[in-house]
Amino acid sequence: MTRQAPDRNLALELVRVTEAAAMAGGRWVGRGDKNGADQVAVDAMRAMLSTVSMAGVVVIGEGEKDAAPMLYNGEEVGDGTGPACDVAVDPIDGTRLTADGAAGAIAVIAVAPRGAMRDVSSVYYMEKLVAAGDVADVVDLRASAGDNIRAVARARGERPQDVTVCLLDRPRHAKLLRDVREAGARVRLITDGDVAGALMAVRPDTGVDLLLGVGGSPEGVITACAVKALGGVLQGRLSPYDADERRRALDCGFDLDTIYTADDLVAGDDVFFVATGITDGELVQGVRYGPGTARTHSLIVRGRSGTVRSVHAEHHLDRLSALGAVDYSQWLNPSEEEQ
Ligand code: FBP
Repeated sequence: MTRQAPDRNLALELVRVTEAAAMAGGRWVGRGDKNGADQVAVDAMRAMLSTVSMAGVVVIGEGEKDAAPMLYNGEEVGDGTGPACDVAVDPIDGTRLTADGAAGAIAVIAVAPRGAMRDVSSVYYMEKLVAAGDVADVVDLRASAGDNIRAVARARGERPQDVTVCLLDRPRHAKLLRDVREAGARVRLITDGDVAGALMAVRPDTGVDLLLGVGGSPEGVITACAVKALGGVLQGRLSPYDADERRRALDCGFDLDTIYTADDLVAGDDVFFVATGITDGELVQGVRYGPGTARTHSLIVRGRSGTVRSVHAEHHLDRLSALGAVDYSQWLNPSEEEQ
C-alpha cells in the first residue's frame, strides 16, 4: 500500500502527545525521582501516541543508557492508519531537571517520513555544534571553540565577548569550557537538557548563540529535526566511549571522523518537531496546575512551511481523562487525591 506523506495536521495531533507527557511528568517536578517522572511521561506519551493517525516506528527512543523506562527503538506507535513515519521521542529531556524542579525540562517528539531518520543508537554520545542559520557557513566542528566563537562574532559584527556558548556542565567539558572562556565568550552552563540548549542556540532572543560539547546522540537526531524545521545548523560527530561502542558504530556503517549534518541525520524537510515545557525554560513555560486544570506551553514547528507556533493550552483534566487515552488523575499528589 502506498502511504501518503505526513499531513500538516499531524503537528496538531503531535502536540497532544507532548502535552500529555508534560502534564504527567509535571506532577513529579521536584519529587527527586527522575525515573518515576520519566515512567509516567513515557506512559502518557505512549497512550496518547496510540491515538495519532500515523503508522509510526520509534527510530529514536530513549533511556537505553541507564535502563530508564522508555519508548524503545522499533516500537510501533500511532493508530496504524495514515502516513508511515519515523518517530523520535524524548518524553522528558531533563529527567534530573524535573526531579530537581530545575529549569529547562521539556517533552519532545519529532516525526519524519519512514526511512528519513538515521538510527544512531549504536553510540550513546555525539559531539555537537548548534547555532542559528545566519552563521551556518562560518562554523565548523573541526575548528577550535575559539575559532567558532570568533567566526560567529565576526559574522554578526560583534566581539567574542558578545557571544554566549551553552554547554552541559560535565567533567568531560573541562577543556572546552577553558577554551570558551579563554576566547572571551560568555558561558551558559546547563546541568542537563541539551535539546533545549540547542533550541536556545537556534532561536532568537534567548541569549544563547552556540551550543557546543558532547551530549546524547538520540538527542542529536531530535535536535537535527528541530534545526531542520526551525532553520539553523547542527554538526555532529559520534563520540563512542569505549572500544565496543566504536566497533558497533563501525558495524552500523558510521564513519567516526565524519561530521554529520542535520541533513545526514534526517533526510528531507518533511519534519515535524514539537516540544512542551515541563519546567520553565527560555522557550516554553513549564506546566501550571490549578483545581482540576493544567496549562501547558508548546512550540510546534513544521519543517516544510517553517511555521513556528507557540501554543498555550488549558486542559480540564477530569474531562480529558473521561475521553479515555490518559487518566490524568493518577499522578495527583496525595493531598490533591484526598479532596
Ligand atoms: P535525560 O533527561 O533523558 O536523562 O537526558 C538528559 C541529558 O542531559 C540530555 O539532554 C543530554 O543529551 C544527555 O543527558 C547527556 O548525557 P550525560 O548526562 O550522560 O552527560
